Amino acid sequence: MTTPADYTEKIPNNVSLHEDRRLQRALESWQPNFLQWWQTMGPTLPTQDVYLRTAINVGRDGWAQFGHVAMPDYRWGIFLAERDPGRKVGFGEHKGEPVWDKVPGEYRAELQRLIVIQGDTEPASVEQQRNLGATAPSLYDLRNLFQVNVEEGRHLWAMVYLLHAYFGREGREEAEELLHRNSGSLDSPRILGAFNEETPDWLSFFMFTYFTDRDGKYQLGTLKESAFDPLSRTCEFMLKEEAHHMMVGTTGVDRVVQRTVEVMREHETDDVGGLGAIPLPVIQKYLNFHYSVSLDLFGGDTSTNVANYYTAGLKGRWLEDRRKDDHQLTSDSTMVDALSDEGEIAQTEVSALVGLNTDLRREYIADCQGGVKRWNRILEEGGVRHRLKLPHAAFNRKVGAFAGIEATPDGEKLSAGEWQRRQGEWLPTDVDKTYVRSLMRPVHERGKIAAWIAPPRNGINGQPFDYDYVHLA
Ligand SMILES: [Fe+2]
Ligand SMILES: [Fe+2]
Repeated sequence: MTTPADYTEKIPNNVSLHEDRRLQRALESWQPNFLQWWQTMGPTLPTQDVYLRTAINVGRDGWAQFGHVAMPDYRWGIFLAERDPGRKVGFGEHKGEPVWDKVPGEYRAELQRLIVIQGDTEPASVEQQRNLGATAPSLYDLRNLFQVNVEEGRHLWAMVYLLHAYFGREGREEAEELLHRNSGSLDSPRILGAFNEETPDWLSFFMFTYFTDRDGKYQLGTLKESAFDPLSRTCEFMLKEEAHHMMVGTTGVDRVVQRTVEVMREHETDDVGGLGAIPLPVIQKYLNFHYSVSLDLFGGDTSTNVANYYTAGLKGRWLEDRRKDDHQLTSDSTMVDALSDEGEIAQTEVSALVGLNTDLRREYIADCQGGVKRWNRILEEGGVRHRLKLPHAAFNRKVGAFAGIEATPDGEKLSAGEWQRRQGEWLPTDVDKTYVRSLMRPVHERGKIAAWIAPPRNGINGQPFDYDYVHLA
């Protein structure tokens, strides 16, 4: 059993921060900068309080508590999953050796880089979502938005803790930089492309939490395997919180599709555009966009950096211990996306180590299929023939083998001119975005919901949908 964090401390934590005064002071001096960032870049909608989950512990039973919290009183804590004293490195050239409690000098730069890249995504999504509260379709949804935002804030804390605790002055400088880069900024943008895109409406938010947060889940999954034990334990606990973000995305799209089906049936038409629901082709375009930019987040189809990370034990595979191979992969090969000599969409064989980004992307794609299947079941049950689908891996890519070509969602190669002419068939156009935005009128009344989305099946923490999840200021 672990003891719950002491919430009378300035920074609630389960890492015995009080035993390391220097570290505690360093983090306490970063804290006001974080709060300043939250004030200026975080959620803009003023509230009295929000019904939130706050992490208090990491144990199996009761790791969080729920209650109405005034936002200025929200407490971001530092939590690592419990230490497994017998844990061994699970892969790479150090396989079978005890895991590391400190950063080995030879891997310092790489580990710091991995932590900074992960850390950069956490505040980025809060920035992207900061104006959504003003157009929330219900208090339930508004509460979920705040929940996702405070937890992304806590994930930033998680990464900053590692930077401060293990990477000295450089780590502290990187921690400052995490607050200085901003999503969409021209001078100092966030590191990864998808985190500089706008999240201007709630359909985008649900697609983002489904597709882009899910990328985060897979990245955290690989870092959870790390031989650097504090990173592993941090990511393990973050994954627990991430599950809720996935739920928000999955059920959010469920509810949009559900409502569209209802309006289609009610009016016996496919064309629900004028009827206050979101047409299925528009939902498909949003899906195409968020899925394709999220595929880019996995990096190049081949990567020697990632091969080196794996061999060094810094970053493993998704569910490494369930893989039935030698966990070193020095003599294995795999197929990855590539262009043929003629420039056609193809695959090529590479060493398994170099293809690890593809391995992770493959796991992710299989997971995304699950969402599409579930949304199509809603269509089927509603008696609608239309189906949603994931676009081809070559569609709308800016990173990897297909970055240099254009293709339809069916994977048919297009000339640049044709792409220019036809991309509006597959990606949200200004007309689509304007229509979706026109639906985004706030419903901040208890128990009420906007007309473009169905209510959720369940409320939060056993509360009903019409619970007073948020008290507006
Ligand atoms: Fe996160
Ligand atoms: Fe998340």
